[in-house]
Amino acid sequence: MSALRERLRFELPVVQAGMGGGIAGAELAAAVSEAGGLGTIGIAEPEHLRREIAAARERTSKPVAANLLLPFARRGHWEAARQADAIVTFWGRPRRRAPGVWIHQCGSVAEALAAHRAGADAVIAQGIEAGGHVRGKVPALELLAAVRAALPPGYPVLVAGGIAEAADVAAALDAGADAAVLGTRFLLTDESRARLAYKQRLLEARETVLTELFGLGWPAAPHRVTWNEAAERWLAGDRRGPAWVRALHRVLSPAVKRLPESAQARGLAQQRPDRPFLGPQPPAEGTPDGLLDSGPLYAGECVARIHDLRPAGELVRELARA
Ligand SMILES: Cc1cc2nc3c(=O)[nH]c(=O)nc-3n(C[C@H](O)[C@H](O)[C@H](O)COP(=O)(O)O)c2cc1C
Repeated sequence: MSALRERLRFELPVVQAGMGGGIAGAELAAAVSEAGGLGTIGIAEPEHLRREIAAARERTSKPVAANLLLPFARRGHWEAARQADAIVTFWGRPRRRAPGVWIHQCGSVAEALAAHRAGADAVIAQGIEAGGHVRGKVPALELLAAVRAALPPGYPVLVAGGIAEAADVAAALDAGADAAVLGTRFLLTDESRARLAYKQRLLEARETVLTELFGLGWPAAPHRVTWNEAAERWLAGDRRGPAWVRALHRVLSPAVKRLPESAQARGLAQQRPDRPFLGPQPPAEGTPDGLLDSGPLYAGECVARIHDLRPAGELVRELARA
């Protein structure tokens, strides 16, 4: 068993990616961990994150991780995330900000080396085929090989992007990964808090696009989504989104990030496919109906190969069956 899995005490080489915006909560993370994988709670406001970790602990005595997106993580987030058994960070300069097990998701060899130097206990090599926000520029297994070669032997490297079936997990392990990290496949489970209509859209999706369209509040950060009304309307030309829309997002984002939660919720209710004020919140439970066509339907390329909603625990056991 890999050193990281031994240290964290999770048995199966399957990690559920922390998915923010309310998608990955306690039910999903606990179901994955209870089955022997490592479940991860997505970033949320500090008090909420704390409650989710506590709720996961009530459901399982196995280890649970918390995910933090560095552009949004404030001191309160770090304090809350410390209640988890591991912190997984993403998007930004890797720096150790809490004791305990720290894993950083990377999109390049340079970023993986920086995380290692900063004291990360493991890195995740994320490929370009991944769903959600994408740091990778090359396919996952290619980045895995390059990161493996650059880091000391035995240093834990996980891989994310395009993993949906047991054969994919086996291929990742054969290629030297300590564990496989899956987002889209775990979004399509009974326990994820994506709205049912979002899950149904993904079950029918065949194609994804890497864009910067939903960048109000998080500009210039490429993300992979499947098509909906907003994507079709704005991405006919430049797949990144019209240059003026991206410029508008860059200008408005600092103010949007400072808005209190209540004002952000009002903005979300007014988001429309034909208005350029398109933010990163996906259609999670409790979000306005309109978000299905005006918000990002995050999905990885592997969405084309996923045709069912599954209980997460059953899925973990099946994925690990090599
Ligand atoms: C709906 C969704 C939301 C995501 N949100 C986050 C996030 O908040 N933090 C993070 O580190 N990664 C996030 N990711 C990216 C995952 O960590 C992972 O790299 C990706 O899901 C792997 O590719 P796959 O979707 O093909 O499995 C998200 C992915 C998806 C599909």
